[in-house]
Amino acid sequence: MGSLRRLLLLVLVILLVQSSLSPFLNRLSPKIHMESALLLFFSLFFSSSLSPTASSCTLFPEEARPTKSGYLPVGAAPAANSSSSAAAEAALFFAFYEAQQPVSPSSETPLLTWLQGGPGCSSMFGNLFELGPFLVSQESPTLRGNPASWNRRFGLLFIDNPIGTGFSIAPSLDSIPRNQSAVAAHLIFALRHFLASDPSFLSRPLYVTGESYAGKYVPSAGYYIMRQNARLPVDRRINLRGVAIGNGLTHPVTQIFEVLNAL
Ligand SMILES: *[C@@H]1O[C@H](CO)[C@@H](O)[C@H](O)[C@H]1NC(C)=O
Ligand SMILES: *[C@@H]1O[C@H](CO)[C@@H](O)[C@H](O)[C@H]1NC(C)=O
Repeated sequence: MGSLRRLLLLVLVILLVQSSLSPFLNRLSPKIHMESALLLFFSLFFSSSLSPTASSCTLFPEEARPTKSGYLPVGAAPAANSSSSAAAEAALFFAFYEAQQPVSPSSETPLLTWLQGGPGCSSMFGNLFELGPFLVSQESPTLRGNPASWNRRFGLLFIDNPIGTGFSIAPSLDSIPRNQSAVAAHLIFALRHFLASDPSFLSRPLYVTGESYAGKYVPSAGYYIMRQNARLPVDRRINLRGVAIGNGLTHPVTQIFEVLNAL
């Protein structure tokens, strides 16, 4: 392969992987804004968990705060006398926003799980810059309501996936998964914890969605759920109804060489 083709290939990979960031990279310094976004998110997170008083409501509207947020374990708790508790400490960070204006009864309102790409991009990026209920303004680090938020009609669950990404916790390098089977197993373990946190969640229709490198996570998760469901009694199955992938990098070898050949 000529060096020009190699260079083109590299640029293409970077573009595909970073495509979710591109609207922002063009216009502003993403680092500064991501930091502002994380600060804002932290203040949201802590203002809702530490000071549930009327005064905190003046800072941010109620809908800007997650309905639930925190950590979902990815493995069974170890025996109390076990020397290694790494698997139990590994956890995925999540932020859940309940549907604001659902058109179906709450027990039938779909749940959407959003997985960012990367690999290694926090789903708080999608939350605060793309599809969450409140977005960080480009001019200043303040929040503005998002009229196209995906939680207008659906419950919206952002997960920092896999372990090691965003606010998710990796107690050791060994706890970071190295293949899609392990990523999917962690994700579904965590998802089951989330679904168990509210009696109505398990029966609600579930969609797994994401963009860019989530073109790998989303089908892996869907496949894992379908295989698991086939072995479980009906009342323990995850009610997976569909998956959605935007600008997915699902099969880099095929996708990138097809584009290169067309140049
Ligand atoms: C932990 O305790 C159980 C029962 O108390 C015992 O059977 C097991 O061998 C112990 N495990 C370790 C790693 O000490
Ligand atoms: C995936 O990684 C896990 C450890 O994270 C390992 O146990 C498993 O064998 C790997 N699976 C494949 C298909 O490589």
